[in-house]
Amino acid sequence: MSQTKKLEIEVIHYQSIEDLPKIYTNLLLEARNAASHSYSPYSRYEVGAAVLLQNDIIVPGSNQENSSYPTGLCAERVALFAAATQHPGIKVRAIAITARKAGNEHFEAVTPCGSCRQVMCEYEDLHQEDITVIMEAGNGEVNIVKNAGSLLPLKFSHANLK
Ligand code: THU
Repeated sequence: MSQTKKLEIEVIHYQSIEDLPKIYTNLLLEARNAASHSYSPYSRYEVGAAVLLQNDIIVPGSNQENSSYPTGLCAERVALFAAATQHPGIKVRAIAITARKAGNEHFEAVTPCGSCRQVMCEYEDLHQEDITVIMEAGNGEVNIVKNAGSLLPLKFSHANLK
């Protein structure tokens, strides 16, 4: 006997960054600004992230690469780990992500890598609070998912370790 289950995720699409709730417009603008601090001489792919905390503080991050390639870190994790260190115990409300090719002023569509999704889910579980994920979708458009878990169906979590 087998059964097929379909898992759906809800993606909210905005035609323009201006159409977002103001707090998310600001957050994505912070992520765009953070992308300019990317250290990415190897990929020449500049990623910016900005984490919004429950106390309204915004913590930026950018991808940081290394000549020993796997040693580098994605923008999302730079921001999330910095937020957890600088503001311990404060819940994460949202994260905005953007990217562009070096030398290109226009931001393009980006979605977080699997490892960053896993890290977002960890904080979602830890704080028992949804993290809204705001993703640059190209041509000034934006996609939002209401929680990180929806980007990582069938995820691994602390529950597996019990
Ligand atoms: N990168 C991120 O910063 N975030 C992602 O979600 C995907 C990939 C970075 C890692 C590396 O510096 C470059 O983009 C190319 O993979």
